[in-house]
Amino acid sequence: MKFLIINGPNLNMLGIREKNIYGSETYEGLLDFIREVCKKEDIQADFFQSNHEGAIVDEIQRAYGLYDGIVINPAAYTHTSVAILDALKAVSIPACEVHLSNIYEREEFRHHSFISAACLKTFYGMGFEGYREAILCLKDYCLSR
Ligand code: DQA
Repeated sequence: MKFLIINGPNLNMLGIREKNIYGSETYEGLLDFIREVCKKEDIQADFFQSNHEGAIVDEIQRAYGLYDGIVINPAAYTHTSVAILDALKAVSIPACEVHLSNIYEREEFRHHSFISAACLKTFYGMGFEGYREAILCLKDYCLSR
C-alpha cells in the first residue's frame, strides 16, 4: 500500500510558527512521526510540502495511478481552494484531511473546509496523532475495497 502525504503552506514552519497553537515539534519531527506509523503499518509513504496552491494541484495530478491513498493537510488552502478540491475529485484517490489544531474552535473563517467534500474523513485538533488516524482510516478503507 502506497500513500502520499501532502502538507500545505507554512507547515514547513512547524516548531517556529505559533507554538501555542501548533506545538514546538518541527516539520521534520512530523515526518519522522509519520514514517514510524507507516513502518508499523507496512505502508510506503512519500511526502510533499508546498506553499503554492498550483504546486499542490500538480502533485495531486501526478499521484493519479501511483498511490492508494492521500493524507492531506491543506493548511490555509483548506478554507479557500476549490482547485485543490477539484484535483482530489479528478484523481479520485481515497483521501483523508488532517488539521493539527481544532479549526472549529478558532476564527470563524477556519470553520469551513472546501477540501472535506473530497475526503473520507477529517481529523482535527489531535496534533500529530491526527495523521496516524488518517493513515489507519485509509488503510482500513483500502483493505475493505
Ligand atoms: C491547519 C489549520 C489551518 O486553518 C491553518 O491555516 C494552517 C494549519 C492545522 O493543521 O491546524 O496552516 O491546517
